[in-house]
Amino acid sequence: EKGGYDYFMLKEIAEQPKAVADTLLGRIDANGSLSLDEVRIPVSVLREVDKVVIVACGTAYHAGMIAKLAIEHWTRIPCETELASEFRYRDPILDQRTLVVAISQSGETMDTLMALRHAREQGAKVLAICNTNGSTIPRESDAVLYTHAGPEVAVASTKAFLTQLVACYLVALYLGQVRGTKWGDEIDAVIRELSDIAGAVDTVLETMEPVRELARSLADKDTVLFLGRHVGYPVALEGALKLKELAYMHAEGFAAGELKHGPIALIEQDLPVVVVVPSPRGRSVLHDKIVSNIQEIRARGARTIVIAEEGDLAVVPYADHLIRIPATPTLLQPLVATVPLQVFACELATARGNEVDQPRNLAKSVTVE
Ligand code: F6R
Repeated sequence: EKGGYDYFMLKEIAEQPKAVADTLLGRIDANGSLSLDEVRIPVSVLREVDKVVIVACGTAYHAGMIAKLAIEHWTRIPCETELASEFRYRDPILDQRTLVVAISQSGETMDTLMALRHAREQGAKVLAICNTNGSTIPRESDAVLYTHAGPEVAVASTKAFLTQLVACYLVALYLGQVRGTKWGDEIDAVIRELSDIAGAVDTVLETMEPVRELARSLADKDTVLFLGRHVGYPVALEGALKLKELAYMHAEGFAAGELKHGPIALIEQDLPVVVVVPSPRGRSVLHDKIVSNIQEIRARGARTIVIAEEGDLAVVPYADHLIRIPATPTLLQPLVATVPLQVFACELATARGNEVDQPRNLAKSVTVE
């Protein structure tokens, strides 16, 4: 049932191009318009939405952090992303014009369920993004957009995350399309790129051998840091989470701009630091800033592991290890940048003799608060 792979996690990592393609299937029509009629929230209601609040836990929360950037950019609707476990305890401001998006692979996570119940009590509309048909979270929501990742067995989430991202992009682009924004042309272009993105994920998977080798060489390390900016920041958090849960290593993700406000004190000789570099096209200011961050940490002895777009030459002099990913529109980069981090964590866990599919102390779905 593992289809020839040693672990479900490896199988699920390999299934990601298909999972992404399946989640897009039937949702983009021949003219490049999104057809999300299955989201039964009437367009008239979506046009009135004045705030989006995303609630989720763990990996799904990282997808939500990326969704916030996409929603605010393409729709100009204010959006916040909150840990479901914190949400209802702070008396959040919600009303009929708030759209709450609850993201959950299992559809059974108690923290997320309690957050959405609270939101509905306040009159907000709830849209679930979920991978499990008929589970509790979609049943209790006003609408659901299913991710079509297929069953995810390994405890560590991989293909579910990529499909959550796809669903979030679809929601963001759909909101942009039904409301009309000044980014209309960009939205059309991104929809075209998104339709082909499964091929880019496949390309990344084909080039992972050096990442596995690198992971094995770091098996006796205690700490790995992850840096990113903009959409690369949640990717850094996700890389760190994967490493904690699978390799049981101290791993932390930082927004690269925060380095100088404290974390740079952690840098010491030979400390592995993974840096997710934004595209040099698009928001190129961020690209240049992160290249300086790489220089700064390397000058202090860090061993830099740089994930950068194909053709980005500026990073080459400062990368002890360079992992190339295909060029994508800025906001879509997490779909390709996360994959090497999944492979990295899985291989490190194996090298350390850990049980990959069933990490200690963890359960696949967390049905208690
Ligand atoms: C990490 C992981 C967890 C889940 C979290 C939410 O690899 O699997 O962090 O993402 O427990 O679970 P769902 O998406 O089922 O609500």
